[in-house]
Amino acid sequence: MSEALQQLVLDTLDKGAVIQDTRSIVLPDANGPATSQEDQLLIQGALNSLLSREMIVYTTNENFAQALTAEGTQILEQGSHEARVWAALPLKGQAKGLTVKEIKEKVGDESAKIGQGRAFKNGWIGKEGDTLVKLVSDIVDSTKTELDEISKTGTLRAGEKALAELRKRKLITQKKLLWFSVEKGVKFSVSIKKPETDLTVEMLASGSWKTSEFKKYNFEAEGAPTNGGAFHPLLKVREEFRNIFLEMGFAEMPTSQYVDSGFWNFDALFVPQQHPARDLQDTFYISDPPAALPPPADYYSVVEKVHTTGGYGSVGYRAPWQPAESNKLLLRTHTTARSAALLRRLATRKGGFRPAKLFSIDRVFRNEAVDATHLAEFHQVEGVVADRNLTLADLIGFMRTFFTKMGITDLRFKPAYNPYTEPSMEIFAFHPQLKRWVEIGNSGMFRPEMLEPMGLPPDVRVHGWGLSLERPTMIRYGIANIRTLVGHKVSIEGVEKAAAVRF
Ligand code: PHE
Repeated sequence: MSEALQQLVLDTLDKGAVIQDTRSIVLPDANGPATSQEDQLLIQGALNSLLSREMIVYTTNENFAQALTAEGTQILEQGSHEARVWAALPLKGQAKGLTVKEIKEKVGDESAKIGQGRAFKNGWIGKEGDTLVKLVSDIVDSTKTELDEISKTGTLRAGEKALAELRKRKLITQKKLLWFSVEKGVKFSVSIKKPETDLTVEMLASGSWKTSEFKKYNFEAEGAPTNGGAFHPLLKVREEFRNIFLEMGFAEMPTSQYVDSGFWNFDALFVPQQHPARDLQDTFYISDPPAALPPPADYYSVVEKVHTTGGYGSVGYRAPWQPAESNKLLLRTHTTARSAALLRRLATRKGGFRPAKLFSIDRVFRNEAVDATHLAEFHQVEGVVADRNLTLADLIGFMRTFFTKMGITDLRFKPAYNPYTEPSMEIFAFHPQLKRWVEIGNSGMFRPEMLEPMGLPPDVRVHGWGLSLERPTMIRYGIANIRTLVGHKVSIEGVEKAAAVRF
């Protein structure tokens, strides 16, 4: 209806340029002009809608209409009370008059009561003994005539004084009626276009935006809630690890470089140049630029020597050595490459060696077959402690403190092998949900073949341990597939809703 009504207004304006009085409009499905107030309010709704689109302008007019009350309507149908009393009586001299009681029986109590007085006053009736009779044979029932005029025209030609009298008698009431005068607006058109709400790529490409009608901004609208950033679960767990290390007096190592050299990632760690971990199948190599900057020459030659002919009580690997292998650029396979660089700095610092507790949590890359729990990249959490005369018991003690702070108390250590540590231990924790021991990390005491070429004093022992950030995060959040934690399948909503972690 509203759409049809809007169209009707536009069509009417198109024909006549203005609509002086909206009471002249014939609504769809109506058989006469829209004179009722209900119709005008309906029209006003349509006008407002067109006004908001600047297709029309309109002014509001009001006039006052008189309407009959229930009593007024009764009088219009049956005559005034005085006329009814008069009509009930016989003409004087023709028959016996009626008593008041008889009048009441004929015209009803109310008409009898109100009508008698007025009929007397008008000189229509008179007394004859105990009874009442008509004094005139014809009357003009002006009340009824006036009400008749009002019911047809809404007003009285006789004017406001007569209207006021009828209002006082509660036969009519005054109503305020609205009606409207309409003109074309600046954006007048006979067709109602739905205004565009978005500027699209297509509109820009076709140029249609130039002629499109755009919906106006509604600055009162509440708007859609905007989302702030959210920390990824890995970042939340990383922060917990960071806090544990900081509580234990560790300092964070700079690790913000993903590319390292074969020298720092392997050679410095006493990983032989023929070690399978250095194969293309396990490590991602960088082809451009083709080589790393050379490491410090003196340190480099000592490392080469310990690998090829040995030293520091070691016979070395006694295998061929190729500088090209050292200079290769690669995506670091462990953060231990940066730990080695930091340890070398510790060995060569001006004031001499100082004990240090260092940690890092950062990304590493391995050319692995990806499955539900492995990706080609993950984050390592690594702790390194350097001090004089440390023992394996110190390493175990550090790890117990560290893992207890994570809430993991049942630990077991299993002998293992790393080219750069001796002894080496895999760390196992009892998983209360899985009810079995799971591997959670790797550790060991760095070999003299790695530490002494750096220039560290021979009584300095360095131990370290590493674990992945992903494994505890998946356990914490009950995530079974790594792809729902990392990569393009991660649900943003899931990230936003992920609860904070407290170990
Ligand atoms: N670099 C080892 C790994 O990748 C972790 C480790 C760090 C082991 C320090 C011993 C000492 O698993």
